[in-house]
Amino acid sequence: MFTDGLRPNELFRERSPYFPGLVEKEKRKKRLAEMREKGDDIGPSRKTLKRNSMKHSACQQKVVIDCSFDDYMTDKDITFLTQQLQHSYAANRRAENPLQLYVCGMRGRTKQRLDSIGDYKGWDVFKEERDYNEVFPKEDIVYLSSESANILDQLDDRKVYVIGGLVDHNHHKGLCHRLAEEKGIAHAQLPIGQFLHLKSRKVLTINHVFEILLRFTETKDWQTSFLAVLPQRKGVSVIEEVTETRNNGSEPNHAVLEKRKCETNEQNIEPKEDPDTR
Ligand SMILES: C[S@@+](CC[C@H](N)C(=O)[O-])C[C@H]1O[C@@H](n2cnc3c(N)ncnc32)[C@H](O)[C@@H]1O
Repeated sequence: MFTDGLRPNELFRERSPYFPGLVEKEKRKKRLAEMREKGDDIGPSRKTLKRNSMKHSACQQKVVIDCSFDDYMTDKDITFLTQQLQHSYAANRRAENPLQLYVCGMRGRTKQRLDSIGDYKGWDVFKEERDYNEVFPKEDIVYLSSESANILDQLDDRKVYVIGGLVDHNHHKGLCHRLAEEKGIAHAQLPIGQFLHLKSRKVLTINHVFEILLRFTETKDWQTSFLAVLPQRKGVSVIEEVTETRNNGSEPNHAVLEKRKCETNEQNIEPKEDPDTR
């Protein structure tokens, strides 16, 4: 009845010079519907992507990824950096209310590498060749650094939070913090220690820091945000007591204390597919 798995009208269109691409579109639609039925993650629809733009976002929180560290990275590290930017961007695009994401200091090899990524030119981000402190007033900036003595408590949407776009495997330990101090810029670390026991340093990857900020704007809860983003795998772990609500919140917060294993080894705090890329 169906030739090549196509219905007669599809077959007509397939063979007709007047409908180029139409059958391809329908085949794609069919494939996606099958994947959806199987429960596969097919990502957000075009309609959702259009609606979830920074422009339409209810979230006005600004976050910068400071990409001015070209001189401190090998070509391989720049590749890792661009992968982490891609992860951050993908997370933002999938969010119902994306953060206002700026990529600043975009020059040199990092820019070249990003330009070579097919769809980068169409990314819904603010791209700035200038450094973040040329784009925003100094008093609005908070540089995020695991080295800072200040602990972030809340996010303030009048402030701009800057993540260092540096992948250096800790060869330049404390560099972002030192530069922020030299420029007289406020700095703070994520409140990880208040919610999780980490066995070693609390240096996270760029995309994890970005995603934690994103989740925090959605949940207003650091613990939930950390647990949602930091990978929980086997290996070195400690037991963290987590207070959770059950029965759609009908039980009070303190009623259920669930012991959950949290991944705490810093080796494991990295993008799932990537090697050590901090
Ligand atoms: C891989 S780290 C860069 C490490 C680098 N050696 C440095 O000097 O910052 C990438 C960026 O993520 C952010 N970051 C990582 N862990 C953090 C934490 N625990 N608290 C706040 N920011 C953090 C910082 O902005 C940092 O510059």
